[in-house]
Amino acid sequence: MAEIRACIFDLDGVIVDTASHHFVAWQNLAEELGVPFSAEDNESLKGVSRVDSLEYILKKGGLVLDPATKVQLMDRKNAHYLELAGKTSPSDALPGVVALIHELKALGIKVALGSSSKNAEMILTRLALLDAFDTLVDGNHITLSKPDPEVFLMGAKALGLDPAECLVFEDAQSGIDAANAGGFPVIGIGQLKALTGAAAVIDGFSSKTWNDILGLL
Ligand code: BG6
Ligand code: MG
Repeated sequence: MAEIRACIFDLDGVIVDTASHHFVAWQNLAEELGVPFSAEDNESLKGVSRVDSLEYILKKGGLVLDPATKVQLMDRKNAHYLELAGKTSPSDALPGVVALIHELKALGIKVALGSSSKNAEMILTRLALLDAFDTLVDGNHITLSKPDPEVFLMGAKALGLDPAECLVFEDAQSGIDAANAGGFPVIGIGQLKALTGAAAVIDGFSSKTWNDILGLL
């Protein structure tokens, strides 16, 4: 196994629990459109871009809409999401993640973001974590949504590292699949029964040192 020189963190559901805000906002929109939207639907939309998420809901409801209406719906969903996530503060970082990021920095291991969200920079700013990241790749930079590996490949390239040297942390199946497709080692954040294909699945970073994490690979 190559030496790990960087960690690439997904944002929603890994650094902060904004995944639940995305769920509420999509569920609300789906209901308005008369499309049933379950926790299972939400699980398969984790890591998926805004436009692809809308397309999933429209397809599920058998709805065909013109491009301008789709933009309106995405704007409405995002406004609702921002109402919920816009109050994010440093205390909302998930347990242990800030300590781990600081430990990585002290050890000289690079820290990167690999998120599908176009709101990533705003959320990291609200968490007071923006400066901790050596590079940021988010929904504003990519053309292909997870499970395509583009977001992680761009991160590795910006760091000047091979995928095998960058450990990805992901809470979404689409993100684990993206990491595997790009040749990145990946640790799942969540429940073992919900996530497949990761080197290990942990329920969070609480009390986990870098050595504990390396021991999982
Ligand atoms: C991902 C979330 O991180 O970002 C998805 O897991 C979300 O739920 C996607 O749809 C896009 O986010 P945004 O903030 O650009 O709408
Ligand atoms: Mg996520």
